[in-house]
Amino acid sequence: MSDGERAASQYDAMAAYYSVNQGGGVCNSHYERPATIGLLGDVNGKDVLEVGCGTGVLTEWLLDHGARVKAFDVSPEMVRIAASRVGGRADLVIANLEQPLSFVADRSVDMVVASLVLHYVRDWAPVFAEFRRILRPGGHVVFSTHHPAMDWKLYSSENYFAVKQVTDTWGKDDWPREVTFWCRPLTAMTETISSAGFLIERLLEPGPTPELASLDPELDQKLRTAPDFLFFKLCAPAAGPADQPQGHWRPPED
Ligand SMILES: C[S@@+](CC[C@H](N)C(=O)[O-])C[C@H]1O[C@@H](n2cnc3c(N)ncnc32)[C@H](O)[C@@H]1O
Repeated sequence: MSDGERAASQYDAMAAYYSVNQGGGVCNSHYERPATIGLLGDVNGKDVLEVGCGTGVLTEWLLDHGARVKAFDVSPEMVRIAASRVGGRADLVIANLEQPLSFVADRSVDMVVASLVLHYVRDWAPVFAEFRRILRPGGHVVFSTHHPAMDWKLYSSENYFAVKQVTDTWGKDDWPREVTFWCRPLTAMTETISSAGFLIERLLEPGPTPELASLDPELDQKLRTAPDFLFFKLCAPAAGPADQPQGHWRPPED
């Protein structure tokens, strides 16, 4: 089973849970989403591809702020919920990020946004090559992913540098849900990004919004002392990947 097929099956099973507790939960709305939105800047009039749109919360924000949005997710059930949220205002597609994005033309997009999606994919090189292909010169990628320090602490304490697949269980009580993702070191991220010809404009380890302290003091304290997620803003310069310095990091063989 490919990473995408596994993610589709896991997210189809927990779409209703995710819609209420994760996408609509305080961690996303008072930590992840404000940081991502802060990196996006003005999206008015821009062509945006949203990767792994989930239940469409950010899709709706992008539309409300004037972007033309094409959004996709590998989970049909997540896309169904996103469609019920945004109606026909966005072009919604069921697609796997591991495959070529054949539904997006070369140099047709100003911005790619991927919130908490890339850790579900082991091999980032073809993904960033596709982002480079579809972006107009000067376009941007904004993405959030698991912070390697969090993954190292929680899942892979014996070897920070290992690229390791982990299955965790989200939710308690009547909502236990399995999620399978990849942990990787920071260099694995930055070298793959550089090799694809992107420049890193911003790399953020933000805290939560001030409101989280009263909404969830325990989570607020946790996020003020240790990062859950890492945020990137990348630029696709006019020069092609061949003109960029090539990195040396390669994923280890299985
Ligand atoms: C943690 S959720 C994030 C959803 C949304 N971006 C948000 O911030 O609420 C991860 C999403 O990535 C999607 N996903 C995982 N692997 C994928 C893949 N290979 N191709 C497309 N979507 C994928 C999942 O189906 C899920 O909707």
